[in-house]
Amino acid sequence: MILVAGGTGTLGTRVVRAITASGTPVRVLTRNADRAKALRADGVEIAVGDVRDPATLVPAMHGATTVVSAVQGFAGLDPGGATAVDLGGNENLLRAAEAADVRRFILISAVGASPDSPLDLRRVKHQAETTARRSRLETTIIRPTVYLETWLGILTEMIETKRATTVFGRGDNPINFVSADDVAALVERATHTPELAGATVEIGGPGNLTLNELSRTLLARHNVPEKINHVPLPVLRAVATLLRPIKPAVAALARFGIIMDSTDMTLAADTARATVPNLPLTSLDAVLAHPSGPAPGPTSRPA
Ligand SMILES: NC(=O)c1ccc[n+]([C@@H]2O[C@H](COP(=O)([O-])OP(=O)(O)OC[C@H]3O[C@@H](n4cnc5c(N)ncnc54)[C@H](OP(=O)(O)O)[C@@H]3O)[C@@H](O)[C@H]2O)c1
Repeated sequence: MILVAGGTGTLGTRVVRAITASGTPVRVLTRNADRAKALRADGVEIAVGDVRDPATLVPAMHGATTVVSAVQGFAGLDPGGATAVDLGGNENLLRAAEAADVRRFILISAVGASPDSPLDLRRVKHQAETTARRSRLETTIIRPTVYLETWLGILTEMIETKRATTVFGRGDNPINFVSADDVAALVERATHTPELAGATVEIGGPGNLTLNELSRTLLARHNVPEKINHVPLPVLRAVATLLRPIKPAVAALARFGIIMDSTDMTLAADTARATVPNLPLTSLDAVLAHPSGPAPGPTSRPA
């Protein structure tokens, strides 16, 4: 049994699909069973719980041999944000997994996780990684670049409601986007690939794209005349500082926007693909052709 915390999210639903396609039973941890209804119809077990509440994690761990953590509290509306979920929540999951004699723990972190990052999210991801490595569990840490599907979703919603997109800063910084389908394939491989036990790997997509390029592609697909609004960096800086005490989620998003527009968002080395052969490398065109991901295929698990 594999427990997927965050199994209702962009990555998590794809992880659940990839693992169940390999014939392994999956349980999803969610705060709201309604969000997981469609998964239950696919034979997935549901455990209702909150990573911030350790007591709810005990029944969720029952019989689990592997735990995947794909949770995130970044820019969410819940109290505590990334610190409560990505750090505290992962610490709780690790403790509960140790107590339940789980063997393997797969932590989804992020490229750029480091103790001195200007972004709180990346600092807490680094702290969670450190806690995971110090645990008694066999740990795999996966650091993806930015998910293509997340940004296609955000920009598409803007186009459908405003017939325009709004991007951070100039919008011309090259960013490595990875398909969440490719990350899910890596997570599935991490559940049974010995080379990934104890490893930290980074995974990205086939190339770099700017938010302007992504906007243009989507506007053209929607037959909407090109209109890209820009939030200038000084405005983002003001929002990041002034809204921190009153609207921390908005401030966190503004800080992320500054990073996305003004720092190196490319990927130096795709260490996941160097370690694991035959991982899919999904292009923007392929994601646009199949937005909810490819149909579950035959398992990549060795016989
Ligand atoms: N999106 C990106 O571009 C990106 C890039 C790099 C790394 N990552 C990492 O990849 C992972 C998945 O990201 P995503 O974008 O797929 O996430 P997402 O779509 O925003 O989904 C977040 C998930 O976290 C769960 N969650 C949030 N708070 C929780 C809590 N207190 N207790 C239990 N579950 C909770 C949600 O479950 P319920 O709402 O059902 O409870 C949901 O399944 C995260 O670790 C994220 O940091 C994301």
